This record gives sequence, structure tokens and C-alpha cells, in this order.
Amino acid sequence: MTKKGRFEDKVVVVTGASSGIGRSTAIEFAREGAKTVLVSRSADKLERVADEIRSFNPDILIVATDVSDTEQVQQMVKTVLSEFGRIDVLFNNAGSSFVGRVEDSNFLENTREMMEVDYFGTIIVTKEILPIMKEQGEGHIMNMSSVVGRKAFPHFGGYSSAMHAISAFTDSLRQELFGSGIKVSIIHPALTRTPLLDHVRPEDMPPPFRRMTPITVDSVAKAVLNGVYYNQARIVLPFQPKVLILADAISPYLGDLIVRLLANKIFARLLGTYKGKVYHEISY
Ligand SMILES: NC(=O)c1ccc[n+]([C@@H]2O[C@H](COP(=O)([O-])OP(=O)(O)OC[C@H]3O[C@@H](n4cnc5c(N)ncnc54)[C@H](OP(=O)(O)O)[C@@H]3O)[C@@H](O)[C@H]2O)c1
Repeated sequence: MTKKGRFEDKVVVVTGASSGIGRSTAIEFAREGAKTVLVSRSADKLERVADEIRSFNPDILIVATDVSDTEQVQQMVKTVLSEFGRIDVLFNNAGSSFVGRVEDSNFLENTREMMEVDYFGTIIVTKEILPIMKEQGEGHIMNMSSVVGRKAFPHFGGYSSAMHAISAFTDSLRQELFGSGIKVSIIHPALTRTPLLDHVRPEDMPPPFRRMTPITVDSVAKAVLNGVYYNQARIVLPFQPKVLILADAISPYLGDLIVRLLANKIFARLLGTYKGKVYHEISY
């Protein structure tokens, strides 16, 4: 087992590492030589990911943690420090999602619940790890948002709000840490094929998603590693959403129009966001 790569012996904490984007990113960091810490609530799922990693990199640590629980996060950080002694990279990726209209009776409750994990979880883990990076005089925090963290989609008001909140938090943190040696990045991927929205019926998906071919977890994982390595402050993946974000900056009506058009098969084909298959037609 040789360890070579851009992250050789760097200690990398990945939250939400039991599934989807987090799982794939943790595996990529480990492939590139990192000492990887897998964090999520389910120890059994993390163990399966760790087993995959152990076949090529023995430096792996599992810490079952709910990121919305400050005490559990403090315990997780202690465990990482006693095992690896430092933390070089934090990927705040753990999250959940729900689909629903603002007027739905459970919208407020669902949004609160999701904010606790996606938004406050990101803050809790950051606040516990930041002093360690400060003491080291270096480190990198990569936060997970989404394209809808730059331009909201209908039926996705709660989730889009959480993603916008993470975006603003990251923007502020990056400026606060300027010159400290600690780098801060954010990634905004488009719809990605993971189990995240498996509980949503295809007809209930936000309208633009009904005609969108999801990108792969591997493409997001690669973008995360490159983002840390090259210190990219903001990553939008793939390139098409940049058109939407630019149009929305010019006029929200133009942004709204593009969102509506994304649900149109011909427009989506022309833009390259629809390649013949949608979310539930591609197995994870
Ligand atoms: N899929 C997409 O289209 C997409 C697009 C853009 C951004 N994102 C974002 O990417 C991130 C990962 O999502 P995914 O698509 O990879 O979904 P996923 O496969 O469902 O993974 C979600 C991960 O978060 C963990 N998690 C959930 N609640 C947690 C909690 N309270 N504490 C600790 N871990 C928790 C889950 O593990 P446990 O259940 O074991 O805790 C799981 O590992 C999310 O933040 C999501 O918002 C997703």
C-alpha cells in the first residue's frame, strides 16, 4: 500500500461520508493519500465505506456523529485530534433535503428541521474545527451548497433557503479569515445522482428537475479536490448554471424565465442539461 497524491498525509474530515457525494469525495481524498475521517450518523454505512478505502489506504477513521448536535461534534473533533493530531481539510457536506411548496402545511416544520442539519450543522462543525486550524496557522474549509444556493427553484424554497444561507455564511467567513492561512471555499453542484431525492416521486420533483440529467458524484468529488488543491473560492458545476446565475443577476425575471425553460425538453436538450434520462431513470 503506497501513499502518493496531492493530499498525502493531510488530515481530511468529510461529513456526510456514508453516502452520495460525501462517500465519493472521501474515497477520492483517500486515493490521493489523505488520512480521511468519515463522519455521519450511521456507523454501519461508514464502516462499509471504510472497508472500501482500507484496501488502498489504511489511514481511515470513522466517527459516527450527528452534525446538528454540538456535544457529538465536540467529541468527534477530540477523537480526530487524539488519532491524527491535526485537521487540514474540512468538507462540510452532510445534509438532507425536502421538496414542497411554501403554502404546504408542513413547510415551516420541514424547513426548520433541514436548517438544523444543513445550515446549523455546517456552522457547528466549522466553529469546533476553526480554532484548531487557527492554531495550526493553516487549513481549508470547503462548504457544500448547490446551484439552488445561487438561484432558488420552485417547490424547493426550504432547501434553496438553506443553501443560500450556507453560501452567505461561507462568503463572510472567507473574508473574515483573509490573511489567516485558512482558506475557505464553496461548491454549488447542479442536480447530482445520489439517494438524496429518492423519497420524492418523479412528478413531485421541482419542475426544472423533471427534465434534467443529473451529474455524477465522481465529477463533484473531483471538483471538490481540485477546489481545495487550487484554492478556488467558488465552484459552480457544471458550466450551464453559470448562465442562469448571470442571467438572474441581470434580472430576476430573466432568471425565472430560464428556470421555467429548463423544464422544456427542447430548451433543456439545446442547453445540454437534458441528455435523455432524468433522476429516477439513472440508478445510483
Ligand atoms: N444530490 C444533489 O442533487 C445535490 C446537489 C447539490 C448539493 N447537494 C448537497 O450535497 C450534500 C450531500 O448530499 P447527497 O446528494 O450526497 O445526499 P445523500 O447521499 O443522501 O448523503 C447525505 C449524507 O449526509 C449525512 N447526514 C444527513 N443528516 C446528517 C446529520 N444530521 N449528521 C451527520 N450526517 C448527516 C447522511 O448520512 P447518515 O444518514 O448516515 O447520517 C449522508 O452521508 C448535501 O448537503 C446536499 O444538500 C446535493
